[in-house]
Amino acid sequence: MSVEITWLGHSCFAIRTGKFDLLVDPFLDDSPTAPVKATDVAADFILLTHGHFDHVTDAVAIAMRTGATVVANFEIAAWLKTQGVAEEKVVALNTGGKIDLPFGCVKMTPALHSSGLPDGSYGGAAGGYMLHLGGQRVYLAGDTALMLDMKLIGIDGIDLAVLPIGDLFTMGPDDSLEAIKLLNPKRVIPCHYNTWPPIEQDAQGWADRVHRHTAAEPIVLQPNETYSL
Ligand code: NI
Ligand code: MN
Repeated sequence: MSVEITWLGHSCFAIRTGKFDLLVDPFLDDSPTAPVKATDVAADFILLTHGHFDHVTDAVAIAMRTGATVVANFEIAAWLKTQGVAEEKVVALNTGGKIDLPFGCVKMTPALHSSGLPDGSYGGAAGGYMLHLGGQRVYLAGDTALMLDMKLIGIDGIDLAVLPIGDLFTMGPDDSLEAIKLLNPKRVIPCHYNTWPPIEQDAQGWADRVHRHTAAEPIVLQPNETYSL
């Protein structure tokens, strides 16, 4: 089964696998770097890592328009229902739990971050996802600091890791190198940078350091660019 991943700016990714369209952390209409608008994206499943506005803002509208099923932690799942998303279109899980869905297996991984929702509601614990898509393991770190848990997260092997490198709100380039050493993924895609000036980073400089100091292949995407696993 092929896996195609497209960066839609910030931490938003479209992942196509088999006949399913997955959308991760939709933040499009208000994102300075998103190449598409919320009305333009396809989604069968939407995965939310945590409650911050730059990860959930367009989730409800896209879910309502497409009929997509939204996967989120327990508290965000409950909040989605208060926003009008149908009960049967929400899948709740929590840190360490996994579930088989039509496109593959989803496991919620820990993240070292916060998760308040845009309206001030409690958003539970921030997380990430380990996806088993056919034979491929894709790790979406979400917003997180460097943490030793990454050693465990990578224990079964990772074909592709998606890591934040913007600093300020998440780990930055230096800590991401240590994260890559702990996770030991075959490939790594950076995200959560260059959306706004405070999280500007030199992605090519980062990629050079990944080459020099880790065993992973860095893959720097431009917004709307696709990588095929
Ligand atoms: Ni965040
Ligand atoms: Mn964020």
